[in-house]
Amino acid sequence: MREIKVGVIGAGVVGSSVIKILQENQELISNRIGARLIPTKAVVKDLTKKRDINIALSDDINFILEDESIEIVIELMGGVEQAFEVAKKVLEKNKSLVTANKAMLAYHRYDLQKIKKNHPIGFEASVCGGIPIIKALKDGLAANHILSLRGILNGTSNYILTQMIQNAMSFDDALKQAQILGYAEADPTLDIDGSDAGHKLLILASLAYGIDAKPQDIIIEGIEKINASDIAFANEFGFVIKLLGIAKKIDNEIELRVHPVLIDKDKMIAKVDGVMNGISVVGDRVGETLYYGAGAGGDATASAVISDLIEIARGKNSAMLGFEKSDNSLKLRDKGKIQSRYYIRLSAYDKTGVLAKISSILSKNNISIQAFLQKQAKDGIAKLLFTTHISQESSIHNALSEIDSQDFIESKSFFIRIDE
Ligand SMILES: NC(=O)c1ccc[n+]([C@@H]2O[C@H](COP(=O)([O-])OP(=O)(O)OC[C@H]3O[C@@H](n4cnc5c(N)ncnc54)[C@H](OP(=O)(O)O)[C@@H]3O)[C@@H](O)[C@H]2O)c1
Repeated sequence: MREIKVGVIGAGVVGSSVIKILQENQELISNRIGARLIPTKAVVKDLTKKRDINIALSDDINFILEDESIEIVIELMGGVEQAFEVAKKVLEKNKSLVTANKAMLAYHRYDLQKIKKNHPIGFEASVCGGIPIIKALKDGLAANHILSLRGILNGTSNYILTQMIQNAMSFDDALKQAQILGYAEADPTLDIDGSDAGHKLLILASLAYGIDAKPQDIIIEGIEKINASDIAFANEFGFVIKLLGIAKKIDNEIELRVHPVLIDKDKMIAKVDGVMNGISVVGDRVGETLYYGAGAGGDATASAVISDLIEIARGKNSAMLGFEKSDNSLKLRDKGKIQSRYYIRLSAYDKTGVLAKISSILSKNNISIQAFLQKQAKDGIAKLLFTTHISQESSIHNALSEIDSQDFIESKSFFIRIDE
């Protein structure tokens, strides 16, 4: 049976799971693919750390790059620029590359596509760990124009929101609990500010639409400003709050955004709770398809990494981003053109004339109120919560910046888009 040697750069949570699964399930995997995948060498940063893996280790990347017998290199070190340099060197050395690094791909997937030549690049594990969504978009749905894609792409923020909604926890307490349970990193910034979900959405958008956008080109907002009033309002009106990555085709433009949304409680995606991930993809021929599963964790992510190794071992080498060349007919839609209903939270000093002034600013900007709730004033401060009819994003920004400048406003306004 043919032997294929594999090098692993980064043997942390995911890397050590990959090594162990390849060793422990070797018979099964070999029988499935008709070749033997042999994890031969791994590279780490700190050789003095205690580890429970059985493989030759070094802290020098050339240990793997210069080994001509290694055919496939798995990059699991994380980071952006250094990982990109490593990925380039892997391809220059005529090796195949597998990576789970969504942050690196969010910035450099088109650079890698340009230089890959005939070398396969696998990145199934970069989006939603255990859910085979990359293969679904690349292969299963390849006959379709993708009309929309909506996903809960970050398990940590979904866990925090679920705790806030179901157990009335504060944002800070829910975050602390996520850290204690190992769902959130010591520095959870990329999870809660929406960046991690943004990285994943950009990768999916390339596969679905051939769009080469970077994080700075799209709306990326997180969950850190959501409070108990927002949760209670959403509940009262039949919604839950979720952090969604949304890609939508409108004529020949593609809307890409990551932000919290109020979403109808009865929708399937509203029921994806805890650390789980879920994605709904609508194709023009197939209709709606749904994907649900573990978005992270060593073994779930390693399972996706190994699926890429298997595809490479079987000799499959499909176009990296699903398009032989970018589909230039589709353009990224301007952020200000987004249309949605909005939930708005204002905090104002309890004075006469406040509501009239707010209404007049909203109507001047063509925004009409759909539902309104005023919480009893406490310490002279009233909470005004309302939803709007469909409005344009740029009008909402204009109206709220004018409202925020009024002397009766106690603290800056906050809004959440409502998903239709
Ligand atoms: N964890 C998940 O559930 C998950 C899910 C999906 C995708 N991912 C992605 O998978 C990748 C790995 O994540 P992880 O959770 O396994 O990270 P991790 O536990 O922090 O492991 C990173 C590994 O890379 C090594 N490393 C870091 N910098 C290095 C350098 N300059 N040279 C050599 N080795 C270096 C570290 O060495 P030391 O061990 O010596 O520190 C460690 O072994 C990331 O891109 C992440 O975004 C992770």
